[in-house]
Amino acid sequence: MKRVGIMFGQEDTFPGAVVARINEMNKGVIAEFVQLGITRMAEPEKYDVIIDRISHDIPYYRAFLKNAMLNGTIVINNPFWWSADDKFFNYALASKIGVAAPKTVLLPSHAHPPNTTSQSMRNLHFPIDWKATFEYIGFPAFLKPHSGGGWKHVYKCHNEGDFFHYYHQTGDIVMTLQEGIQFKEYVRCYVIGQEKVHVMQYDPLQPHDSRYVKDPKPLDKKLEQRIIDDALKLNHALGYDLNTVEFAVRDGIPYAIDFLNPAPDADYHSVGPENFTWVVNAVSEMAIEKALANDRKPAEFRWATFLQGSNGVSSSPKSSVRVAKK
Ligand SMILES: Nc1ncnc2c1ncn2[C@@H]1O[C@H](COP(=O)(O)OP(=O)(O)OP(=O)(O)O)[C@@H](O)[C@H]1O
Ligand SMILES: [Mg+2]
Repeated sequence: MKRVGIMFGQEDTFPGAVVARINEMNKGVIAEFVQLGITRMAEPEKYDVIIDRISHDIPYYRAFLKNAMLNGTIVINNPFWWSADDKFFNYALASKIGVAAPKTVLLPSHAHPPNTTSQSMRNLHFPIDWKATFEYIGFPAFLKPHSGGGWKHVYKCHNEGDFFHYYHQTGDIVMTLQEGIQFKEYVRCYVIGQEKVHVMQYDPLQPHDSRYVKDPKPLDKKLEQRIIDDALKLNHALGYDLNTVEFAVRDGIPYAIDFLNPAPDADYHSVGPENFTWVVNAVSEMAIEKALANDRKPAEFRWATFLQGSNGVSSSPKSSVRVAKK
């Protein structure tokens, strides 16, 4: 019998639903919540697949998962790449593989990292050319961490005064400054592997619990297809099995805003019943497929191949698009 385990934190609805779904599908795969204690090096785990929803918050779990992978467990999502990835890199990558991304720059942190001084940072020239940066990015602009989530330290700046006001509060966090996209539509897409995309209209200007639009007007067909293609291109290049990709649409062009979400929100109460059912089914089916195919040989990852963004993505993918309806 093949076995799938799931690791999770404070979320209550998604992990139990995936376990129940995999077990009721009766495909020769059983699912359960992972239980672990002390981890011995190089010893195989009993799981063919582990779905990881929490190792970004629990470093012990991240290290456990790398060891599990070495011993042939498939981890959704790959803990090595998740550790290496960051949002500034993502924007640069998007622009290289032909996905529209807002103009973005990486800023030296405002404060010295712990245990360093100006002496540690002598490669940085001073003064910094802010004027050229503001001319390049323009206003409004978003100041946000190069690696972060949950809207923490995301600031909208309307002018230079705003920028310095917020930048001075960012301490040693490495920040990006990004062109603000004045969008008409905004979408968040679940992307499963290199095949399935579920497009949800999302209104980031609403309070947290009412952002997934309940009764959206259908998107223009061409726009929707471009969103699907671009979401798949990004997911393929980044090698994620489960991710959400957000786009802000300006003048009919979807700009990729946020696509480093390897443990995306999948809570029933937040995403709503239809989106929840979709993601529970899609993740369960993927986990079963991977568990059945797992021959316990650790896969070889060559990032260079992924990051070309070219392999395996056709212009007419096998994707299923489902726009959130009421
Ligand atoms: N360049 C931009 N143009 C317009 N709006 C933006 C831009 N960048 C961020 N935003 C707004 O700020 C919100 C939060 O930004 P972002 O998604 O990048 O941060 P996050 O902390 O990763 O959030 P999440 O919780 O979704 O992972 C977005 O949903 C969007 O509404
Ligand atoms: Mg976001």
